[in-house]
Amino acid sequence: MASIQDVANLAQVSTATVSHVLNDTAYVSPRLRDRVLRAVRQLGYQPNALARSLRTKQTKTIGIVIPDITNPFFPAVVRGAEDVLSSRGYTLIIGNSDNDVEKEAQYYRTFAARRVDGILFIISASTHAPDFLRGHDAKNTPIVYVDRSYRGATGDVVLADNERGAYEAVSHLIKTGRKHIGIITGPQVLRNAMLRLEGYRQALLEYEVELSQDLVREGQFDEESGYLQAGLLLNSKSRPDAVFVSNALMTMGCLRALTERRVRVPEEIALVSFDDLEWFAYTSPSITAVAQPAYELGARGAEVLLKRITGELTGPYRRLALRTSLIVRTSTAPVQCENTTF
Ligand code: RIB
Repeated sequence: MASIQDVANLAQVSTATVSHVLNDTAYVSPRLRDRVLRAVRQLGYQPNALARSLRTKQTKTIGIVIPDITNPFFPAVVRGAEDVLSSRGYTLIIGNSDNDVEKEAQYYRTFAARRVDGILFIISASTHAPDFLRGHDAKNTPIVYVDRSYRGATGDVVLADNERGAYEAVSHLIKTGRKHIGIITGPQVLRNAMLRLEGYRQALLEYEVELSQDLVREGQFDEESGYLQAGLLLNSKSRPDAVFVSNALMTMGCLRALTERRVRVPEEIALVSFDDLEWFAYTSPSITAVAQPAYELGARGAEVLLKRITGELTGPYRRLALRTSLIVRTSTAPVQCENTTF
């Protein structure tokens, strides 16, 4: 296997010049740079990554932890992060925690052992920083929390504007004539789920629509809880004429419950999902949804993390809230006047 000395000899430069070219650590004239890169290609030279990381104190690797790799929202976030990181020469190591704090801890330890330069973290459902993060050296290995964060999290946060997105969705339902609007929330230990509930409350308050506690049901961001909570909503004494569901997987479960009961959407119950899925445009009825910029969340999170790593970003942690967009489809068509038969 060729050594750095072989490259230097072939390019007729010093080993220091070869190192500067490969690590971009000092100016080298284009003429010498080309000679070095040609020699590297000709000899098939592979720099010793471990040796380089010890010298530069960087491994050019980033770890990301996501809570559920089967949920299409998270791979979209990873895609955005990976595109930014790979364009800057970083490798991304993906960990799927299955919403399990123990698995989160395991990936955290793995990232530490691999000396990643930074971590992107989409936390599992928990209200506070887990034990394994206590004493984390955020200065040397910055963490950016994406989509969700802990109260008092020691890192920058990049998430969607959950409260505003929920407010816009419920306001839309009210403007189409709905007056008994139910909500299936996400787990109320998660800040983003709390903010979606808050947006729901704000819209009802602003339009002076009654908030009935038996129309507020807590789900767990999965299909099964969406199905169960939708059934309870339909059996509640003040039957809803609309349901706002706080994520796409629970919307699928809610749709299953409505279909089983032959409830007509939107004629009997209008439906809005927080999170859009591609096939929501092709169902009958098509589903009105609050689209989160999942790809952008990953890309912006990666950019903030790289700025922390390079020292371009210093000082107090930032909180970046990205706008959502309401995609109106037929599941929220306006209520027709009383005497129209469907
Ligand atoms: O479906 C997963 C949900 O949890 C999404 O709404 C996303 O915000 C994540 O936090």
